[in-house]
This record gives sequence, structure tokens and C-alpha cells, in this order.
Amino acid sequence: MEQVIGRSDFGADGLHPDGQYSRGSKWFHWLTLPPLGVLLLSGLTIRFIGDEAKMQFYTLHESLGLLMLMLAAARLTWRLTHAAPPLPVDIPPAIRRGANAVHTLLYVAIIVQPILGFFTTNALGFPQQGATAFLGFIDLPKFMDASPELARTLHWCHSIVGWTLFPLIAAHVGGVVYHHIVRRDGTLFRMI
Ligand code: HEM
Ligand code: HEM
Repeated sequence: MEQVIGRSDFGADGLHPDGQYSRGSKWFHWLTLPPLGVLLLSGLTIRFIGDEAKMQFYTLHESLGLLMLMLAAARLTWRLTHAAPPLPVDIPPAIRRGANAVHTLLYVAIIVQPILGFFTTNALGFPQQGATAFLGFIDLPKFMDASPELARTLHWCHSIVGWTLFPLIAAHVGGVVYHHIVRRDGTLFRMI
């Protein structure tokens, strides 16, 4: 695999002569950030919201969560059909494996989390209809009858994945900062 020495020693191959992620990958990557931030914040604060605004808050969280699922599915499809540029050859195997594992877990989380949230609301007996309809006006079908036990389990899973996203994102951003400041290998520029 031929290496290109440019702004820095980027990983490159025939498909990525400049070592850059595809334009679509970059759009998907940065478009994911704002909704994900709002979802994490709104999820964690719903319990503190007074009754008057609670339904709007649920509508925001649940509708944005489903939009996130669509975005994540489109992003995953894009990624599976557009290979990532190879990492520079001098990246140690442990860092390579760590980065790939964190990327994979981030993909899993943004797909699994909204699905868990969606079925939690169904099991709680609050399908996205009426006051909490998708986007405020699209009633979604009810998938199951209320089941408190299933709701507790799904809510617990939704919580665990939600909280796990924080260390995952911290590891990911920490890795990018490490590459940028310590290794100075131009990793950040592969995605902008
Ligand atoms: C990537 C998408 C999503 C993220 C990152 C996310 C994140 C979170 C987080 C961090 C919490 C707080 C958990 C806790 O209190 O420990 C939460 C709660 C919740 N989420 Fe999500 N969520 C997403 C999608 C969804 C979707 C699509 C739905 C439903 C359609 C949903 C429904 C809920 C419900 C019902 C709660 C419980 C709120 C309460 O405490 O009453 N979430 N979410
Ligand atoms: C300010 C925050 C962030 C920065 C600076 C950042 C930066 C980067 C950079 C530079 C890469 C390319 C790594 C490489 O060359 O292999 C990357 C890849 C990636 N990032 Fe982030 N990122 C951030 C937040 C996030 C968040 C919140 C997610 C959660 C979904 C995420 C998910 C990914 C994934 C899955 C990849 C692998 C590329 C792909 O296959 O699409 N990033 N990020």
C-alpha cells in the first residue's frame, strides 16, 4: 500500500490518494454531532422537567431520536459501501485496534439506542401518538401492549447505552486530541 507524504504522513491508498474520508462520510460524521448532543442532554434532563413542558420534551427527545436512527442507518449504509482510508502505517497495532473498536461501538450505539428508546416508550404504554406523536403530528403505530416489566428492562438498557456513550465519545475525542497534539499525524484532517 503506497503512502503519500503530504500535510503529514496520512494513510492513503488507490481509493483515497489524499488519505481523506469521503465527502459523504465527513457530512454524516459532523451532522451526527448536534442531534446526538441534544439527545444525551434531553434524555438526562427529562426527569427534572415540570409537567407543563414534559410532553414537549418527550416529543423533542423521541422525534429527534427517531431522526437520529434514520441518519445513523443512512450513515452506516454509506460507510459499508465507501471504505475508510487506511490508517497511516506507523500507527501501532494496539491504537489501531482501539480506534476501530471505538468506531464500531459508536456505530452500534447510535443504531441500538433509538431502537431501545422506541420500544421503551411502547412498553411503557406511551406509543408516539397524540401529544408525543412523531414530529408532533405523525401518529406511529402501537407495537405492543403496555408491559411494566419489559419497560423496566428496556429503560435500563436505554440508560446503560446512554451512559456508555459518554466514555466512548471521551475515548474517541481523547484519541483525536492525542493524535493531533502528541503524535501530530494529521488524523483530524482526514475528517475535515
Ligand atoms: C441516539 C438516540 C438516543 C439517545 C442518545 C438517547 C439518550 C437518552 C438518555 C441518555 C436518557 C437518560 C437515561 C437515564 O435517565 O439514565 C434517555 C431517556 C429516555 N429516552 Fe432516549 N435516547 C435516544 C433515542 C430515544 C428514542 C428514539 C426514544 C423513543 C422513541 C427515546 C425515549 C426515551 C425515554 C422514554 C427515556 C426516559 C426518560 C425519563 O427518564 O422519563 N430515546 N435517552
Ligand atoms: C468534537 C468531537 C469529534 C471529533 C473532533 C471527531 C473527530 C474524528 C476524526 C478525526 C475521525 C477520523 C479518525 C480516523 O482517521 O480514523 C473520526 C472518525 C469517526 N468518528 Fe468522530 N469525532 C468527534 C465526535 C464523534 C462522535 C460524537 C461520534 C459518535 C457517533 C463519532 C463517531 C465517529 C466514527 C464512527 C468514526 C469512524 C469513521 C466512520 O467510519 O464514519 N465522532 N472522528
